[in-house]
Amino acid sequence: MQCRDKSEDNKNIVREREDVVGLDAAILMHPDVWVASGHVGGFTDPLVQCQGECKERFRADTLDGEACPKCGGKLGEARQFNLMFKTFMGPVEDDAAQIWLRPETAQGIFVNFENVLNSSRKKLPFGIAQIGKSFRNEITPGNFIFRTREFEQMEMEYFCHPDEAEKWFEYWVEFSMGFFTRFGIRKEMLRLREHTDDERPHYATRATDIEYRFSFGWSELETINHRGDHDLKAHSEKSGKDLSYFDEQTRERFIPHVVEPAMGADRTLLALLADAYDEEEGEKEIRTVLRLHPEIAPVTVAVLPLSKKDTLVPTAKRVHEILSKSWNAQYDDTQSIGRRYRRQDEVGTPLCVTVDFKTVEEDDAVTIRHRDTMEQIRVPIENLAAAVGDQLEAIRKDVTS
Ligand code: GAP
Repeated sequence: MQCRDKSEDNKNIVREREDVVGLDAAILMHPDVWVASGHVGGFTDPLVQCQGECKERFRADTLDGEACPKCGGKLGEARQFNLMFKTFMGPVEDDAAQIWLRPETAQGIFVNFENVLNSSRKKLPFGIAQIGKSFRNEITPGNFIFRTREFEQMEMEYFCHPDEAEKWFEYWVEFSMGFFTRFGIRKEMLRLREHTDDERPHYATRATDIEYRFSFGWSELETINHRGDHDLKAHSEKSGKDLSYFDEQTRERFIPHVVEPAMGADRTLLALLADAYDEEEGEKEIRTVLRLHPEIAPVTVAVLPLSKKDTLVPTAKRVHEILSKSWNAQYDDTQSIGRRYRRQDEVGTPLCVTVDFKTVEEDDAVTIRHRDTMEQIRVPIENLAAAVGDQLEAIRKDVTS
């Protein structure tokens, strides 16, 4: 286990909150962890195989009819297929050495609950969050990066008193919605959907999905699960280690209940890209622009000398050096200025700073070009960092309004 400091990659959940700590748990754990959690017994999808020509395999719960959607052949009986990947620990490949790749980051949090409680000295309610790879042997991966077999999860287990779990469930649903709109996803592209009894995962007593309207239809972006005491109780029973919590104020001992916002980084990225993508009718051509929130944009500000001439390059490099102290700044002097603007629009760079001949010959000022409005303002280099900061703030407000 590695307890992470309030690091950059967990900024909105960990760094900005007093009641959440970050964790980086192991991917490979003792196989009993997955027996206790119920994944060995219950983490399955129903699989059917075409008995006709194509012999294709499908997830039974995604099919409408009883015939193969590919060749029209008869489908066989559905059987439960465990989604966990098997591997072996050590040099001997026998049953005793068989382990699993984690299908969710959450279990690493539960088995470290006591470690974190003792080392962080947190009191309930508090959360443990982590970002990391999970692996599922999906029957039908696809829709770009929507469903893959190796993906990045951002999960948080929020431990609380059983009487407060419903309250925290509502809180984290609302918080999670706000997380997406905060980074510019339009409200009308998001909706909540409560799981029905037969689709809820084996560990949850209640589950709500936040769905995004992808090009292939409304689909899950994040699930908020009410896991009750399922996991801590199961690990206590399997390991013989008491994972109950003693509240010193009320003198009460109980197994905390858990509310879990479980988000996929890849799906979030897909939604952010889909939501930001725009094509704008120009006079001569269509302008493709990614209207990304400045905190998401891979390049925050591009520095573009009007030409590659020696007269401009040193000043442009100086400007790049100033800006790269605070932001992801990219220097680019290849091809025409028009093409470079288009390239930056396509990757969602909020601002471009142009260094021209007037800069070096007359005013030691540069032009800032705004991605969304394409408006340009002239700013002295000595005020540039402050001006870029102001412009980014304006774009941030615009993207989330
Ligand atoms: N710990 C609870 C849990 O894992 P989940 O609904 O199975 O819940 C949480 O997964 C999130 O992880 C999903 O909402 C989705 O964003 C992401 N996710 C799950 N399976 C995925 C896959 N095969 N490919 C990409 N992302 C996936």
